[in-house]
Amino acid sequence: MTDLKKDRFLIIGAGNMGMSFVTALLRNKYSANKIIILENKPSKKLLKIKKEKKLTVIKNIKYLKKYQKPNIALLSVKPNQLNSVFDGDLIDFLKSSLIISIIAGKKLSILKKVTKNNLGTVRAMTNTPVSVGMGTSILFFDKKTPSILKKKAYQFLGLVGQVSEVKKESLIDSFTAIFGSGPAYIYYFIETLSKIAKKHGLENSNNMVLQLFLGSLLLMLNENESPESLRQKVTSKGGTTEAAMLSLTKSDKFNKILLEAINKAKKKSKELN
Ligand SMILES: NC(=O)c1ccc[n+]([C@@H]2O[C@H](COP(=O)([O-])OP(=O)(O)OC[C@H]3O[C@@H](n4cnc5c(N)ncnc54)[C@H](OP(=O)(O)O)[C@@H]3O)[C@@H](O)[C@H]2O)c1
Repeated sequence: MTDLKKDRFLIIGAGNMGMSFVTALLRNKYSANKIIILENKPSKKLLKIKKEKKLTVIKNIKYLKKYQKPNIALLSVKPNQLNSVFDGDLIDFLKSSLIISIIAGKKLSILKKVTKNNLGTVRAMTNTPVSVGMGTSILFFDKKTPSILKKKAYQFLGLVGQVSEVKKESLIDSFTAIFGSGPAYIYYFIETLSKIAKKHGLENSNNMVLQLFLGSLLLMLNENESPESLRQKVTSKGGTTEAAMLSLTKSDKFNKILLEAINKAKKKSKELN
C-alpha cells in the first residue's frame, strides 16, 4: 500500500491521457469515492466506468464546491485550454493541492502563475503507453517543492509506468522529442519492416513483425544483457545480419537520420513553449 491510499484525486480533463490515469487509479484499487473527474464532454468509456464504479464526473467547476478538496490534481487538458479551466473557483479549490501538469509546452513558471499555487505545482511529461500502465514519464520540480509532495508526484505517475526526474526544465524538450514522440518512431519502424516483409511475399507480416519486437524485447529483459551485446550475438562473422548491419551503419547513416529527426522534434517542442 502506498501513501496515496489516503489521498483524494481530481482529474482535470479526462480525454486520452486523463482517462489513462482514471483507469490506473481504479486498477490499483483506489476507491472510486476519492476520485473526482472534471470533464466537459465525458466519453462513452468514461460514462461506462462512471456507471460501473459510481465515479463522480462533473462538467462544470461550479459544482466542485460541495466536494472535499483533493490532495492531488492532474492537469490533463489541451495546452490552449489551460487558461480557461483555471478560474477563481478552481484556484481556490486547489490552493493546497499537489497539481501535476502533463500539458505539453507549458513551463512551470506559467503553470504557477495560472494556478496561483506556488509550492504544489509540478510539471511532468509522459507518453501514450500510460494507457497500458507502461508509460515513460519525467517530473520537473521547483527548488522549493516540499519533499513529501515530490514523493507523491513520483507515486502518482508511477501508477502508469516508469518515472524519473530532470533537474533542468529544458530537458523536457529533449524528453518530448525522444520519449513523448517515441511511440510514433517505434510504430513507423514496425510499419516499414512489415511493408518490406509483405513486398518480399511473406504473408502475415504484421503479426510476424509484432512477434519480432515482442520476442526481442522479452529476450533482452530475460537475459538481462545490453542491446549491444545481444546484437553482436546475432551478428555472426560473414553472415546475413553482418551484411545488413554493415549497410545500416555505413557512414553512421542510421544514427544521423534518427538524430536529425529528434533534433527537429526538439526544435518544435521549444517553439511550442
Ligand atoms: N498525447 C500524448 O502523447 C501526450 C503525451 C504527454 C502529454 N500530453 C498532454 O496531455 C494533455 C491532454 O491530451 P489529450 O490527448 O488527453 O487531450 P484531450 O483528449 O483533448 O483531453 C482533454 C479533455 O479535457 C477536456 N476539457 C477541456 N477544458 C475543460 C474544462 N474547462 N473543464 C472540463 N474539461 C475540460 C476536453 O474536453 P473538450 O473536448 O470539450 O475540449 C477533453 O475531453 C495535453 O495537454 C497534451 O499536451 C499528451
